[in-house]
Amino acid sequence: MPGTESGNVHVVDEPLSRHKMAVLRDERTHQREFRQAMREMALILVGEATRRMPTRTASINTPLTETKAQEIAGPVCLVPVLRAGLGMLDGALALLPEATVGFVGLFRDEQTAQPVEYYVNLPGNLEGYFVIVLDPMLATGGSLSATLTKLKEYGADWISCLHAVSAGPGVDRVTAEHPGVHFYTAALDPELDENAFIVPGLGDAGDRLYGTL
Ligand code: PRP
Repeated sequence: MPGTESGNVHVVDEPLSRHKMAVLRDERTHQREFRQAMREMALILVGEATRRMPTRTASINTPLTETKAQEIAGPVCLVPVLRAGLGMLDGALALLPEATVGFVGLFRDEQTAQPVEYYVNLPGNLEGYFVIVLDPMLATGGSLSATLTKLKEYGADWISCLHAVSAGPGVDRVTAEHPGVHFYTAALDPELDENAFIVPGLGDAGDRLYGTL
């Protein structure tokens, strides 16, 4: 796989993902282009995350003859973390159009940086699903850790998380608290500032996607 790997952390670092990161990070990138680049980043990250999915043999007929083919060996559930995760959903569904979609609504309290849950709508039982969490940013890891705890309550046991940019401290936290989960990120930034924003990061993904700057 392109990029670097450390345990369950996969840094998807190759020319195309670097180019999209440059667009996402640039403060001159306006809402429309930012949304487009985030969608394209989701395509790249889904392509990487699906490499870990087992496939099974299916018998099919081509126009010429019967043959064997490989298909993903189970249902997929995409889980965008509202709001910013919605910016990756369309791209993910372009590659996995049969996927179920569940939603987790969390925002980070600006004073405390703690996650506040306001909406959950997931399939009743996630056992047997390949669950893919979508969120452009992993900062302190508080939102993602709460999301993963919720998904496990619903029975999820195969989970991958996709992020455009992650901060080292947040990655350390979620890998310690959720050791069986895999994380795919196009960039791994070293630090958080005093407001728990990723530095250099890309700003606030939700605000840039939806024009609420
Ligand atoms: C952002 C981001 C993550 C979270 C990361 O969402 O999309 O969900 O913050 O921060 P953490 O790792 O420190 O928890 P935000 O709270 O800004 O909400 P929004 O998506 O509605 O804009």
